Amino acid sequence: MMTIPPPTHVPVLLQEVLDHLTLPPAARILDLTLGLGGHAEALLARGDAETRYLGVDRDPEARALAAQRLGHDARLSILAGAYEDLWEDPQFLAWRIAQAPEGFDAILADLGVSTLQLRTPGRGFSFRDEGPLDMRMDPEHGLSARAWIAEQTDESLADAIYQYGEERASRPIARAILKALHEDRLGTTRDLARAVYSVIPREPAKRKGHSDPATRTFQAIRIVVNGELDRLAAALESAVAHLRPGGRLAVISFHSLEDRIVKQTLRRLAGIYDGPGRTAPVELPKILKLVHAGGIAPSEAEAAANPPSRSARLRVAERLP
Ligand SMILES: C[S@@+](CC[C@H](N)C(=O)[O-])C[C@H]1O[C@@H](n2cnc3c(N)ncnc32)[C@H](O)[C@@H]1O
Repeated sequence: MMTIPPPTHVPVLLQEVLDHLTLPPAARILDLTLGLGGHAEALLARGDAETRYLGVDRDPEARALAAQRLGHDARLSILAGAYEDLWEDPQFLAWRIAQAPEGFDAILADLGVSTLQLRTPGRGFSFRDEGPLDMRMDPEHGLSARAWIAEQTDESLADAIYQYGEERASRPIARAILKALHEDRLGTTRDLARAVYSVIPREPAKRKGHSDPATRTFQAIRIVVNGELDRLAAALESAVAHLRPGGRLAVISFHSLEDRIVKQTLRRLAGIYDGPGRTAPVELPKILKLVHAGGIAPSEAEAAANPPSRSARLRVAERLP
């Protein structure tokens, strides 16, 4: 009988991350999105015997797989939880005081969902597979996508689909989704996709080589269900506060909304004013240096070998003394 291998996740912009997060001896590394441990494995391979690596993830399945892959390495500690809530977490603070009293040399945030999450039908992230309408990265907390949709009005659902999916047909799509819900036809990912296709038929888009019309709606609902953008700026600011002088923060984002928040936050912490008018009303403290003015995109070879990496952008900043 043929066995289907479990989904894997190819770490994105790996060489670029390794090039920009150069590790001193006995490096202290914080990985805010451990996932399946792809970046972790490569960074640990670069570190010496005294390196210590703290990997955080909110997804129990990801943590279990990362532990299976890297658990033999005593330099790695794995912590459960969302990075937004990490900074007050007693377990994090105890680790930080014991293992990294001077702060971290490198902090990595590889944002968004993993291939494991996207490709496991039971997690409910993908319109390609039939699965429960869930989409939670941490299935033990918060509302599933279906439960969240059930709390929306036509207007609030349309607003979310427009804001987080940049979907122009957000209003008719929201109406179609809530109609399906009220007619008891919204239990699964395919049901949600069908509601979108009732507004934007799938075939013409497919023929023209465009992305599936459900992509934007699924992205929007996933972002809201996981609160992906809500506290990202504050979390990055907290991360910077835990860098030692000369330490670096590397952030990989996957869509323009996310990248905009990362860019604006790092620029603000680098003392760069982007607000209205020519000068800032108050002088901005300058605690970071931008290592690259723009975001770093994957090479053509990487984009061809791993198409989901195409939209990824890496931004790197260094903590000033
Ligand atoms: C793109 S994957 C990371 C992949 C990883 N770098 C690797 O190479 O295997 C993103 C991971 O971040 C986790 N994640 C997303 N948002 C999170 C949050 N707010 N707090 C903690 N983990 C989060 C997801 O559960 C997922 O496993």
